[in-house]
Amino acid sequence: MSSFSLSSFACHVFSLLLTFLLVLSCLFSNFSLSAAAKRSSSHVYVSHHHHSHSGHHNHPHPAAASDDSNPRLYRAFLALQAWKHVIYSDPYNITTNWVGPSVCNYMGVYCSPSLDDPKIQVVSGIDLNHRDIAGFLPEEFGLLSDLALIHLNSNRFCGILPQSMANLTLLFELDLSNNRFVGPFPTVVLSLPTLNYLDLRYNEFEGPLPPELFSKKLDAIFVNNNRLTSVIPATLGGSSASVVVFANNNFGGCLPPSIVNFAGTLEELLLINTSLSGCLPQEVGFLYKLRVLDVSYNKLVGPIPYSMTGLSHLEQLNLAHNKLTGIVPAGVCCLPNLANFTFSYNYFCEEEGTCQNLTSKGIAFDERRNCFPEKPYQRTQKECNAILEHPVDCFEYPCDSGSASASAPSIAAVPAATPLSSPPSAAAPTYT
Ligand SMILES: *[C@@H]1O[C@H](CO)[C@@H](O)[C@H](O)[C@H]1NC(C)=O
Ligand SMILES: *[C@@H]1O[C@H](CO)[C@@H](O)[C@H](O)[C@H]1NC(C)=O
Ligand SMILES: *[C@@H]1O[C@H](CO)[C@@H](O)[C@H](O)[C@H]1NC(C)=O
Ligand SMILES: *[C@@H]1O[C@H](CO)[C@@H](O)[C@H](O)[C@H]1NC(C)=O
Ligand SMILES: *[C@@H]1O[C@H](CO)[C@@H](O)[C@H](O)[C@H]1NC(C)=O
Repeated sequence: MSSFSLSSFACHVFSLLLTFLLVLSCLFSNFSLSAAAKRSSSHVYVSHHHHSHSGHHNHPHPAAASDDSNPRLYRAFLALQAWKHVIYSDPYNITTNWVGPSVCNYMGVYCSPSLDDPKIQVVSGIDLNHRDIAGFLPEEFGLLSDLALIHLNSNRFCGILPQSMANLTLLFELDLSNNRFVGPFPTVVLSLPTLNYLDLRYNEFEGPLPPELFSKKLDAIFVNNNRLTSVIPATLGGSSASVVVFANNNFGGCLPPSIVNFAGTLEELLLINTSLSGCLPQEVGFLYKLRVLDVSYNKLVGPIPYSMTGLSHLEQLNLAHNKLTGIVPAGVCCLPNLANFTFSYNYFCEEEGTCQNLTSKGIAFDERRNCFPEKPYQRTQKECNAILEHPVDCFEYPCDSGSASASAPSIAAVPAATPLSSPPSAAAPTYT
């Protein structure tokens, strides 16, 4: 995960959040403004503690807590006590004060006036980021139906998400990153109608991504560093996401041309180390809002699609560690906002125009380990010939994964929208 993308995302999400948070009480401000900063370092901290199963738990005393005047806080009390009951390690003693009916005083629990009745306090946020807590999320979690934000980043929560989470109909941000959640993709999140930010990275979710994920109104989707497999769904798209991070999963298959359905919103697409094969589809060049594109550490073949010369907002482009061939087009090196172009460890054989001297354009670059005859640190002639003798026809090239052809048509099956040689202006909007 590169820091540039996170920090720019943080800026982006702030504007969204601000509007939202005005609705919540001042109790929130401290916690929410630091949330994005906490996210940025979510992957840094990985604990290796084992669960200590202690037999001592404080059982709830509903009679003592009964508060007829606010049944919503009472339901939250029941939920939090049930949760505390399945917390097995809490090295910072965060849940020690989770005693009695005053849930708004619990550490990490935040209350604010209810959206539907400002006279009533409800539990609207839980922030236990970086608390190293081990435990489960109990079925009673569904009683916390007033929650707008859940931040559980960097703990040792494990198991699967309770189905009752479908009850959290006001949930806006869900950050479960850097925990030990397992099982298939937690489809319960798909039923949350107002979810905007979904961060599941650094867990152990496995299997395919449900196609429905991409038809939800999510602004940010982080699923990197899990054990997700199977191709990126061919139905990918129709999404409203501006940031999508798939990195470090084992998807395989090709990037489907349906990626074009992200064109209206997508600004950052990180597909690092996702076992992608086949050619980059022309459609990647129609994602006209892209600022960051990183497809490094994959098995991509074929040329840079000419359509990419239309990505006028592109700042960071990383194609390194693939098997790409052909020319590095001048049109890409001339992109007005390009600040870093990394294309090392491929089999490019020619740099067109300004691409030959990116220093003169003030662009950070890495062109090592290609097949440029005049440049230092290139591959050997033998290595280059072995690949260049077998040029790739992107209309014929199959996707690697066996299941790929069934669920995600390769570009062999779906002809590109524009011929390889024509400029992208027909489909990619132009900018001043
Ligand atoms: C948590 O509580 C235990 C038992 O009271 C104590 O030994 C420990 O030092 C506390 N840990 C912290 C970080 O305060
Ligand atoms: C869902 O929330 C409602 C209150 O909004 C509550 O009455 C109900 O018990 C909750 N359901 C579950 C499964 O937690
Ligand atoms: C790529 O992802 C796999 C898991 O899918 C991981 O084991 C491997 O270390 C990653 N490689 C790089 C270069 O990050
Ligand atoms: C350019 O991008 C590459 C790949 O993301 C990164 O390793 C490198 O540090 C960046 N260079 C600069 C100067 O930002
Ligand atoms: C690249 O351009 C810079 C600045 O314009 C110049 O100093 C340098 O000699 C050029 N390098 C090559 C290899 O032409």
